[in-house]
Amino acid sequence: MVANDDTAQGLHDALTNLIPWDGPVAPRAHLHTDAPALDLSGTWRFQLVDSPHDAPAGFTDPQFDDSDFVDLVVPSSWQMVDPAGNAPFGRPAYLNINYPIPVPASDEDIVVPNENPTGCYRHTFEVGQDFTSAERVLLRFEGVDSFARVWLNGIELGWTKGSRLTSEFDVTSQLRPGRNVLAVAVSQWSDGTFLEDQDMWRMSGIFREVTLLARPYGGIDDLFVHASWDGDAKLLIDGPEGATVTIPELELTTTCNTEVTIPAAQPWTAETLRLYDATVSTDTETVAVRIGFRTVAVDGDVITVNGEKIIFRGVNRHEWHPRTGRTLDEKTMRTDLELMKRHGVNAIRTSHYPPNARFLDLCDEYDVWVLLECDLETHGFEWGGWDGSPTGDRRWYDCLLNRIQRTVERDKNHPAIIGWSMGNESHCGEGIRLMNDWVKERDPSRFTHYEGDYAHAIVDVWTVMYPSMEWVEAVRDRTVMPGAGPAPQTGRERELPFFMCEFAHAMGNGPGELSAYEERCFDPHFHRDRMHGGFVWEWIDHGIDTGRGYAYGGDFGEVLHDSNFVCDGLVMPDRTPSPGLLEFAATMGAVRIEVDSEQLRDGTGITVTNRRDFSDLSDLEFTWQLVDDGEYVQAGVLAVGALAAHHTWTGTVPLPDEISDPMVVVVEAKLTADTLWASAGHVVARTSALLVPEPLPQPCLPASSQPRRDSSGWSLGPARFDRRGRLVTWGTASLVAAVLDLFRAPIDNDRASALARNNIGDAALAAGLDRLVHTTTSVHEDSGDLVVVTRSAAAAARNSMTTTWRWRAVQTDDGREGIHLDLHTDPHGHWPTMLGRIGVTIGLPAQWTTVSWFGLGPTENYPDSQHAAIWGRWDCDVADLQTPYVMPQENGLRQGIHELTIGGSSGGMRITADGSWPAFAIRPWTSQALMNAAHTWELEPDGHTWLTLDAISAPLGSTSCGPMPIMSHRLYAQPVDLSLTLSLV
Ligand code: GAL
Repeated sequence: MVANDDTAQGLHDALTNLIPWDGPVAPRAHLHTDAPALDLSGTWRFQLVDSPHDAPAGFTDPQFDDSDFVDLVVPSSWQMVDPAGNAPFGRPAYLNINYPIPVPASDEDIVVPNENPTGCYRHTFEVGQDFTSAERVLLRFEGVDSFARVWLNGIELGWTKGSRLTSEFDVTSQLRPGRNVLAVAVSQWSDGTFLEDQDMWRMSGIFREVTLLARPYGGIDDLFVHASWDGDAKLLIDGPEGATVTIPELELTTTCNTEVTIPAAQPWTAETLRLYDATVSTDTETVAVRIGFRTVAVDGDVITVNGEKIIFRGVNRHEWHPRTGRTLDEKTMRTDLELMKRHGVNAIRTSHYPPNARFLDLCDEYDVWVLLECDLETHGFEWGGWDGSPTGDRRWYDCLLNRIQRTVERDKNHPAIIGWSMGNESHCGEGIRLMNDWVKERDPSRFTHYEGDYAHAIVDVWTVMYPSMEWVEAVRDRTVMPGAGPAPQTGRERELPFFMCEFAHAMGNGPGELSAYEERCFDPHFHRDRMHGGFVWEWIDHGIDTGRGYAYGGDFGEVLHDSNFVCDGLVMPDRTPSPGLLEFAATMGAVRIEVDSEQLRDGTGITVTNRRDFSDLSDLEFTWQLVDDGEYVQAGVLAVGALAAHHTWTGTVPLPDEISDPMVVVVEAKLTADTLWASAGHVVARTSALLVPEPLPQPCLPASSQPRRDSSGWSLGPARFDRRGRLVTWGTASLVAAVLDLFRAPIDNDRASALARNNIGDAALAAGLDRLVHTTTSVHEDSGDLVVVTRSAAAAARNSMTTTWRWRAVQTDDGREGIHLDLHTDPHGHWPTMLGRIGVTIGLPAQWTTVSWFGLGPTENYPDSQHAAIWGRWDCDVADLQTPYVMPQENGLRQGIHELTIGGSSGGMRITADGSWPAFAIRPWTSQALMNAAHTWELEPDGHTWLTLDAISAPLGSTSCGPMPIMSHRLYAQPVDLSLTLSLV
């Protein structure tokens, strides 16, 4: 069936006419009003057709028989209906930079494919007199991706684009008392698609709320709240002349358009929750607004709020839910904010579009800084050198202005929003300047942002993405880093505040090096300087729940896709905090506790730094504990008190005269009272230090246990070695012999990105680190030791590692039989490749699944991501040691191992380290299997428990979209020693 020609032709024209909308009323704030409103969310009738031309004829007619249509819940994206199953409406597609449709050349008209999936929606609703007696009735769409044409009772209202922006149609003359039929045709592609090339799942439909709003005669259509703070609170609300403004808590009554000073009011900041409930009333309507008094300023090269410099401990947030896509309910939004606040996040960049309006109410309420970004990205034009990019092509300027106007007008009353961002990765042309000019005119009270303003000629701040440490240092020190890009062009950037709008790409296992960024860009040592921190990329992994694990790009048969680059968040798709988020909290959190065990006896070993910008620490209690290998010893409270912002406290804890076993001091800062985002007792900051004991006495050697050779190999204590000197039996358990291990299943940060100068993972594979051949070159007895020399090298390679394994039978100090290993390994030949680790891996019985260790834990930790880990005694099962990154990869390392016991019903092994403390990973599969699995559900236990002990482990970095790890962090081949005692359990 084909719609009548006029309708079909009209749809097609409007799709690509470079006109942002036709029909909607002027943009305005979303106000919380007592005027009647009808939420039209629910079950609608729906049919998906291949193109707008195929819309069923007459489907907009109220009398149309829609029995061929099916039910669809609105709001939703139609591709999120059973995407991993029957996918009745097609599947989502993930793309980063590439456009999902062909891109017109700059000398061509804009076209979109004729194959343009179009959802035909019908919804019947009833209204009563409260609507029909209103002066006006508006029909509000909060988000339709990407083009909607709307009819009410068969009469066309117009059409709109701008997927994450509100459109309101005036339906006063089309609305009828009683039954009304709304029809909407939503097309997947339009010229708007070229402005919406964000790195995300591409999906379509009415994915945010639809509401009918009665507008009373003499009502309040719009308000602009100006609530500032300069030591006194000042309030001016632009609104209907004569409307009454009241703030009961401040006993204030005034009128719109009158500025008042309110001495009793307290300021709002992202640290000091101070919102005032106000009402604005006319005779016919009352609107509730929440007011926060604050003044944002760019003071030279410093951003201040209420006169204080602020630091962004921020994240970039896309809207995502693994089952509903970009349709989020309030519970999910609250979960995001609660998790952020619990982990020290104080700022959100709404990458790269305005979020659901409700989320911003919650940002005011939960206290975070918001950098609100317009729905704009044209990244795919970069492939053509940005030729024809809309921000430099006047044909598009109306669309750009329409987008920024709708962004600012909707959200202008939120205290949390302190900056407006023009968009992301859209090159920079006159269009950006026009947008910025409009914003500065309409709302000079906030700073403007656009990372792509590389000439630093337009917006108020200088921001970059994924800088190297050297680069950040150059900005901080105002030196020029040779070869640094983007190159300074005007010099104006040297006078602007600086922050990283994206850094620390949280893809897979990582990001590492957060503390290195923190030192350079967030440290209050630079308090009056222009360094303002940054926003980690990004908040959540956009995995799609398939019922057995999470899908990513390419799992839905896309012709083009960018694989798992869409899973790069600090929380897993189900919002489980990743180890990266814990590291964020430990390094970026505004409350810093440091323990220097050497200084504890001098009374100054504990330092608490209040890195908040406004508030003191009176909301926290600081407690200490001394713990002796898991046993509680002593605890107390530190008198930190109401330590003011930017101040430091030092003190200590009482220590026993003698420390014989590994003893740990743990200091924690806990909330003393419930907050909106956590209960009393929530740990805001925690750190630990190991009070190093005297070295343990060397285990003694029973005379009876010399290496004994027989026809099949060697016996030594509870161990047997084969003729090649490989450890193959432990007690009664068969082992897969221990070998040297240099390999880790590449993490996302080992894989190539355009920004990385190297591809660590590919280089490791090319060097054959995953397929080393281990050759025994000698086995002999030497003074009661079994000495085995092996050479490990890959096929075709000439470089190798020579390892000497010196085994000796021992009895441990608690009387257990065991063997001691002194291992030394040396590289030979040229080793240009970065290594994943230098350690050993051994296959233990699969039944050994119980693990206990003294070292850093309980969470996984790596050399450049270990601030969240605490020294102590930790117990768990092998399954709990795995971190299920969406794309399987190296995970689960724990460092600083003094003692590790692994066992089960059929025996076990206790390993103590002397001298330097190794790291361990224990898995039911090999690193090679981890590498080969593309999804978590492809990993199967292989009949062994694989134990890897690293003498040195590689860092994580964030090279998946960022610089290489700091040179001194990189792991290259080098001589290494490992000294372990293995004893029977
Ligand atoms: C940035 C971009 C983000 C995201 C990120 C990589 O360049 O602004 O949207 O694509 O890279 O994950």
